[in-house]
Amino acid sequence: MLLNSAKHSQANTVTVSICKEDNNIRITIEDDGVGFDTSKIDTFKGFGLFSIRERLKYIGGYIKLESKPGHGTHVTVVAPLKIEKK
Ligand SMILES: Nc1ncnc2c1ncn2[C@@H]1O[C@H](COP(=O)(O)OP(=O)(O)OP(=O)(O)O)[C@@H](O)[C@H]1O
Ligand SMILES: [Mg+2]
Repeated sequence: MLLNSAKHSQANTVTVSICKEDNNIRITIEDDGVGFDTSKIDTFKGFGLFSIRERLKYIGGYIKLESKPGHGTHVTVVAPLKIEKK
């Protein structure tokens, strides 16, 4: 994801923060680059975001993408620190 910022965004600045909250870890990655249309995410040929989403779903976390063309990208990943066994 950080790689995505480097690869696609043409950003000057990328801000990464990681924090722990309760049983979750929250990672946010914000860049001030070109952004993209999140409604087209399903039509992208890239495998990166898709596989991250699937893996997070599996462990009970999620990924949130906020981006607009021309307005940079803000990615939030929340994942549980302890995985509950079912
Ligand atoms: N930070 C970003 N800034 C601008 N565009 C982005 C950013 N992150 C993702 N995108 C857009 O979303 C698309 C999908 O990203 P994804 O990570 O799924 O695939 P990819 O990076 O192209 O390929 P892969 O991750 O498999 O190498 C990218 O092709 C790009 O157009
Ligand atoms: Mg990628």
